[in-house]
Amino acid sequence: MQKNREQWNSKIGFILAAAGSAIGLGNIWKFPYIAGEYGGASFIFIYLICIAIIGLPVLIAEILIGRTTHRNPVGAFKALSQSKFWIGVGGMGVVSGFLILSFYAVIAGWAIGYILEAVVGNFAHFNTGSLAAEHFTDLVSDVPWILGYFTLFMILTMLFVYLGIQKGIERGSKIMMPILLVLLVILMVRGITLEGADKGLEFLLYPDWSKINAQAILVALGHAFFTLSLGMGAMLTYGSYMSKKDSVLSAALQIIILDTVIALIAGVAIFTSVFAVGLDPSAGPGLIFHTIPAVFAKMPGGYFFSILFFILLSIAALTSAISLLEVVVAYFVDDLGWNRKKATIVMGFVVFLLGLPSALSFNVLADYTLFGKNFFDLVDFLASNIFLPLGGFLIAIFVGYVWGFDKVLTNLREGAEDLFDNNPFIITTWKFFLKYLSPILIFIVLLHSLGVIDLIFN
Ligand code: TRP
Repeated sequence: MQKNREQWNSKIGFILAAAGSAIGLGNIWKFPYIAGEYGGASFIFIYLICIAIIGLPVLIAEILIGRTTHRNPVGAFKALSQSKFWIGVGGMGVVSGFLILSFYAVIAGWAIGYILEAVVGNFAHFNTGSLAAEHFTDLVSDVPWILGYFTLFMILTMLFVYLGIQKGIERGSKIMMPILLVLLVILMVRGITLEGADKGLEFLLYPDWSKINAQAILVALGHAFFTLSLGMGAMLTYGSYMSKKDSVLSAALQIIILDTVIALIAGVAIFTSVFAVGLDPSAGPGLIFHTIPAVFAKMPGGYFFSILFFILLSIAALTSAISLLEVVVAYFVDDLGWNRKKATIVMGFVVFLLGLPSALSFNVLADYTLFGKNFFDLVDFLASNIFLPLGGFLIAIFVGYVWGFDKVLTNLREGAEDLFDNNPFIITTWKFFLKYLSPILIFIVLLHSLGVIDLIFN
């Protein structure tokens, strides 16, 4: 349709942008608390296996579809199969982009709002976690507060997408990702050097195999998937701006290493601090907004470090949100011939409208529920627990069985000729994981989300 489709300026630009997509609230907020909940080092061990056997194979598959077709998820399946079913799978990816961004941006808005809270010193007097939790409840009940920061975050996200692949997303990632890493390392060093930090390290790194049960394994599988932004074509779309001269295999490996290392550092930074000041490590999802502000209130230099922490959280969320909006925008640009600027503004606004009821789920719409879930929880559940695993399962099936494996291998070899010709073992292993292990395991995650597994076990 268009001759001059954009491309990343460099391979490192692509890696940083894709790592920016992967590294998000999932790494800084979710990974530490689930690792804490399910037995620390034992959980981390299982999680690493999940990353290797379903994360890496599906990540390679997604990037490969994108790089081969140079299209968004819908256009990519159109180019490779013509079948309505598979084009529909691409469509589900684009819809997931709308849905996930609409609620992700609400939480990301809190992160930005908390930068200001930290700057004006609002955390200073919290000497218990419950005071911080109350403050959080007050803030999210405040409609202008929640809508204001949600809007601000959406505008920031749109700005990068509006400026395009090289000038917006790539340049932004090259600046923001190093900042993120530096901030995180500063916070980790602060955490480790606190008195009593060893208890936090022990909590996170000491294996407790008694906590590993079927539930823990399912959580590890699901998170391996979510943290790598798989299942909806975000990596596919970023891969579609990649040059055929660059190796998909090595790019995927580097993205995974960055994502995992950041999650581990975040875990160390958070738990050393929480333990050192003697707060409750098992606050679960509330850890970041309920417990962390109180942690900083009690820590030497906490004023300064709390500002850094919420800047870090906002950057992590922003680079993920950008990739979500890019999936949607790429579809309107590639397949409907819109220009990027118009697609960004119109679709950003549609996401904003869709996000309003999510933002209001914490206040005026709190009592409106369906299946016991408010609007925010419903959208989150539908997208993260149904659409993502379903999409990931189908992508593995498509590349493993439908596309034609000889074509898959020819495309995969491009840009990775040396590795490919000298290490047949790597390719065979990938093929085995993608065709057999990944689809089965992802399907089990899906059944678990739908409650089928719990039915069987009870
Ligand atoms: N990986 C992101 C995180 O860890 C969340 C996420 C899931 C995501 N799916 C996505 C981000 C798709 C961008 C695109 O927070």
